[in-house]
This record gives sequence, C-alpha cells and structure tokens, in this order.
Amino acid sequence: MTTIVILAAGQGTRMKTTLPKVLHELGGKAIVHHVIDTASHLNPNQIIVVLAPNMDADAIKGGRNIDIAIQNKALGTGDAVKAAMTHIKNPSDDVLILCADTPLVEEQALQQLLNSPRHHPSENPEIWLLAMELDNPHHYGRLRTFKNEVEAIVEYKDATPEERSIKLCNSAIYLIPGEVLQRTLSLLEPKNIAGEYYLTDIVTHARSLHVKTRYLKAQDSYVLHGINTLSELARAELYFQDRLRERFMLAGVKMVDPSTVYLSHDTIIGHDTVIYPNVFIGPQVVIETNVTLYPGCYLQKSHIGKGAKVGPYAHLRDNTILDSLVEIGNFVECKNSHFQAKSKAKHLSYMGDASVGEMANVGAGTITCNYNGYIKSKTIIEQGAFVGSNTSLVAPVKIGQNAIVGAGSTITRNVPAGALGLERSEQIIKDGWAQRFRETQQNNKIKLSKE
Ligand code: UD1
Ligand code: MG
Repeated sequence: MTTIVILAAGQGTRMKTTLPKVLHELGGKAIVHHVIDTASHLNPNQIIVVLAPNMDADAIKGGRNIDIAIQNKALGTGDAVKAAMTHIKNPSDDVLILCADTPLVEEQALQQLLNSPRHHPSENPEIWLLAMELDNPHHYGRLRTFKNEVEAIVEYKDATPEERSIKLCNSAIYLIPGEVLQRTLSLLEPKNIAGEYYLTDIVTHARSLHVKTRYLKAQDSYVLHGINTLSELARAELYFQDRLRERFMLAGVKMVDPSTVYLSHDTIIGHDTVIYPNVFIGPQVVIETNVTLYPGCYLQKSHIGKGAKVGPYAHLRDNTILDSLVEIGNFVECKNSHFQAKSKAKHLSYMGDASVGEMANVGAGTITCNYNGYIKSKTIIEQGAFVGSNTSLVAPVKIGQNAIVGAGSTITRNVPAGALGLERSEQIIKDGWAQRFRETQQNNKIKLSKE
C-alpha cells in the first residue's frame, strides 16, 4: 500500500511574494490543492501534507481527507519529509513523495510510477523516481546515472560544469519503501552550498545500504515542471489553460480566439456554446449548451442556462443564475440574482439580489438599490413585468406580474400586478420659452462686449 507525502512547507523565496508559493493559484485553484486532489485519485492509505507553521492548515484541508505535518523551519526537502515521518500510520507502506510546487502532474504519470516493476520491499527494495529529459534544464537537480540506475542527484547549485550539462533531471517525485526512507533520512547532513537537508541525498545513502534507485522517464516532461518563480507560474498557467481550452473545443465548444479565453479548473461548458474573445471565467461557473458569450465578459460562481446570450462586457457573479434563453447585454452586472427563462436586461444595469420572472424586461440603466450600508435586500420583478429605463428599484421591493414601471422612476413601494408604477414630477411645457431665452442671452452678451 501507499502513503503519499506532499511537501508544501517551503517559503518559496524565489516567488518574491508575501503569499506562500503553494497558495498561488492555477486556473483558480491553489497549486497545493491541485497536487492533493491528484493524489486523492490514487486512493492511497493516507495523504500527509507538510506545511510551515505560518500556513492556514484548515484552509488547506478545506474538507479534504488529509493529515497535516508541520515543519518548524524550512531546512530543506529532506527535513520536510522527516517532519512527516511521525505521522505515517503504516510504516511498511511505500511512500510516494510529491512536491506541492509541481501542480501539473497527472494521475497517469504517478500511476506509472506506482506500477513500476519494483520488488517487494523485504526482498530487494528499490527507490523509483520520475525523471524528465529537458533541453534547457535550468536549475533542476541532475541525475547521474549508470545504465538504468541513478547513482546520485546533484543539485544545480552544487553541480560541476560537466554535471550541469546533463539533461536528465529530477522531478522530485519518488516512490520509496517506508523502511528505506526511515533509514536514509537519518543519514542526511546539510553539507552543500544551500546548507539544507536535501532529500535528493537519500539516493547516495541508499546505495551504501545496497538499495538501488531507478528512474522512469516521463513521456510529457512539461507536467513535471516545478513552479519557483512568478514567471514559471505564468508559464504553467498558459499550459494549463491550453489544455482546458483544447478539451472544450474537442467537446464542441467554439472559441473564436482561444488564447484570449480564460477558464477555471472546475469550469463546465456545454456543446454548441460560442465564446468570443477576451472572456474570463472564474471558479464555479456552469455554462449549458448553445450559450453565446460575447466579447469582454467576466463570469464567476454563476450558472448560465441553455441558449442564453451574455455580453458584450457583462459581469455575472456570486450565485447568479440565468435560465434558458435569458439575455444579459452590455455593461450589465448581476450579483446573486436569478433570471427566469427569456427575461432580459440588455443595457447598463446593476441587478443585485434580484429575482426576475419569465419574459420580464429590465430597461436600460435600471439599478437595484439593494444595500443600505448595513443589509442587503431583495428586488422581485415578476413574470412579464416591464421596467422602464433609468429606474431605481429601492429594495426590498416587488414589481408584480405584468406590471409596468415608467422610465426614470425611483420605486420605493411595491407595484401591484398589472399596474403602472410611476414616480416622476409633473412635466412643465412653456410655449416659445426657448426662443425668448436665446434672445435675452444674446442681447446680454452684446451688452457685455461693449462695456
Ligand atoms: C527540488 C529538488 C530538485 C528537483 C526539483 C524539481 C531538492 C533538494 N531538490 O528542487 O532536485 O529537480 O525540486 O522541481 O529536493 N519544501 C519544504 N520544506 C523545505 C524546502 C522545500 O516543504 O524546507 C517543499 C517546497 O514547498 C516545495 C518542494 O518542497 O513544494 C520543493 O522545494 P523547492 O525549494 O522548490 O526545491 P527545488 O529547488 O525546486
Ligand atoms: Mg521547486
């Protein structure tokens, strides 16, 4: 059986950010969560995540079935694994070690490692690791190999020029028999340029105990890339987005300019949906079939029903639900609002905490005044109602079925079904006034210029 240890306690100094490295997001999900979720798919005995004392363990757990180990000081990857050892429930398990800064790794690559032809630990234990062959291996640890055996892993900082020319690199993903791990960890010493306990040194110690280290070369080395800087994070994001877009396009989602469409790890989109350029889809968005997203939309935590049209430049957020064939037009923001089938708000509106009935029409510039500085209140617009342009709906308020609200009204009281709601001062007409006004002003101007 397998226990998985995920190293996430590093301070990520190369990120140069206050936010710890592993909490930066990829496709709207923290990179440590990508790794934990992939690990869970392997059904291990136990998952242990090693965190630093300043990290919010509850936020990282977020309902996930994991154990937390704390590494008090970031003394290196070897020390981080040591911190996990006392939490291992079954010491005879093989331990699969993953790094939280390698979020693109896929279940399939890990499964390959678990299926590696290793012997039973009691007979002839072996360490297995995932290797990647890179044209530009930058800072990665280099594998010194002989035949199919890894003799040593040399960190870039400590490598000779000859070792730096090696293109076979360490992904920092290892499968190690529990007892071998226990014995070799105790032999680690911080004798290197970084002054850290390198996990990579267990390979050399294992050799002295007659335990061989073997490697599997990943087919797609990109998924093993580690994230250490913001530019590596941005490159990983591009790769992640490309993969998501490809998946949706192959499933019948049309993207006019895919490179400008941003998706999230959990986005769902139905076939025959068309997405125009510059659309950003944050977490928790479901888009059904035949939807059109015009350019410049920003969506987050919303559900868009079949055949709906959204945008250009619309903002849907925080529990907005559009039923089928709803139309939300340009410069309309919807927050926690439910639009029933075929209702419309097509221009320049804010609809917050609103419920809009079937076929209702919300005119240009309609604003729900949902917040009085202390509490949020609901606006209900019932089926078939028509709200004239430039209306303020001061919540809580209800516009009854088929009612009409006159343009420019500030509605503070409920409008009954079928009624007209109008709030406007009487219009004044003064015949000939404009002509008289112009003449007076023109004469004044002439007088002033002569003085
Ligand atoms: C590590 C490997 C390197 C490999 C590379 C692959 C070592 C010494 N080097 O280098 O051979 O090519 O990964 O990406 O292992 N961490 C802790 N506590 C610490 C230090 C790190 O938990 O004290 C965690 C980090 O949060 C991170 C992971 O371990 O998730 C790897 O640490 P990092 O500093 O990124 O190692 P690399 O320099 O990338
Ligand atoms: Mg790293």
